[in-house]
Amino acid sequence: MRSSITIPPNTEEEELKASLPKEVWFNSYPMYFYQDCWNIILDSTISCQNHFLAHPSDIFIASIPKTGTTWLKALLFSIINRKNHQISQSPLLKHNPHELITQLESIIYANPKHPDLKILEKSPRPRLLGTHLPFRSLPISIKNSNCKIIYICRNPFDTFISSWLFYLNYDENHGVNEAMMEGYFDKFCEGKFPFGPFEEHVLGYWKESLKNKEKVLFVKFEDLKKDCKGELKRLGEFVGYPFSMEEEKEGVIDDIIKLCSIERLKDVEANKNGRVYSFIENKWFFRKGEVGDWVNYLSPSMVEKFGKIMDEKFSAYGLKL
Ligand code: A3P
Repeated sequence: MRSSITIPPNTEEEELKASLPKEVWFNSYPMYFYQDCWNIILDSTISCQNHFLAHPSDIFIASIPKTGTTWLKALLFSIINRKNHQISQSPLLKHNPHELITQLESIIYANPKHPDLKILEKSPRPRLLGTHLPFRSLPISIKNSNCKIIYICRNPFDTFISSWLFYLNYDENHGVNEAMMEGYFDKFCEGKFPFGPFEEHVLGYWKESLKNKEKVLFVKFEDLKKDCKGELKRLGEFVGYPFSMEEEKEGVIDDIIKLCSIERLKDVEANKNGRVYSFIENKWFFRKGEVGDWVNYLSPSMVEKFGKIMDEKFSAYGLKL
């Protein structure tokens, strides 16, 4: 594989963009309604849809932003690499989890005309990658190959609050402030927020996880909080790196849980001061990491209607969030 390719400008893409419904997120970022999703990185999405070639051993973490992606990246990285180094030597103590598990569309294809394919070439196998794309928009080679996908989801209201507070810290947030939360909550309920509608994104992967259990594993933030050990064992089995009885007795799982705790990761220098994404500091990926923090921001009347609609949509497919 060549490490850099130049993709020529494509007038078809420009025409496509002009034909799609458009919104501007946080007064800065254009979002296009593409393949039933408010896509905030359309050029990168199209570039990786057209060019990315999955390998059957690839493992993807898929999510809507703010559902626990960073945590799951730390856990998965530790599961896969546990035989390569001791916990005290973990690369997680020097690097942000997003540096160790790269985001496909927003890092590798961030420059859609010059994707950074070196990252893929340098990655040891299995390659660990992240994506926020909905299932429908994944590059076809991901769907057609035997690679695995772990999808993490979270209660919609915690996801909204976590996103809202995160986006307020964007470098390019021009003039959006805390007093505007209600208006942005309405947008979230209408599905008009990055990678929304929430329920479409979640159900896309949920349905796939029911159809193809070998390929898609569905994980909930709340379950990781409640029973991290049980979830880690499930993750290990799914990716083909199961924990042995001996490892369990020796406390390997407990050590990984401690290493990946929000308190521990917050304290890592790279997470205090570094940047993986150009538009935000790493420190904003770690806030409280709690379940139910939305009650401190949203009133019961704000969530009642949307919560009911959401519950009905999810329960029709046997899902409870
Ligand atoms: P809060 O804003 O509710 O605290 P993402 O990684 O998808 O961007 O999600 C970020 C959310 O996960 C934030 O939620 C963040 O605090 C939480 N988080 C990050 N690392 C975590 C960890 N190690 N354990 C638990 N939660 C974590």
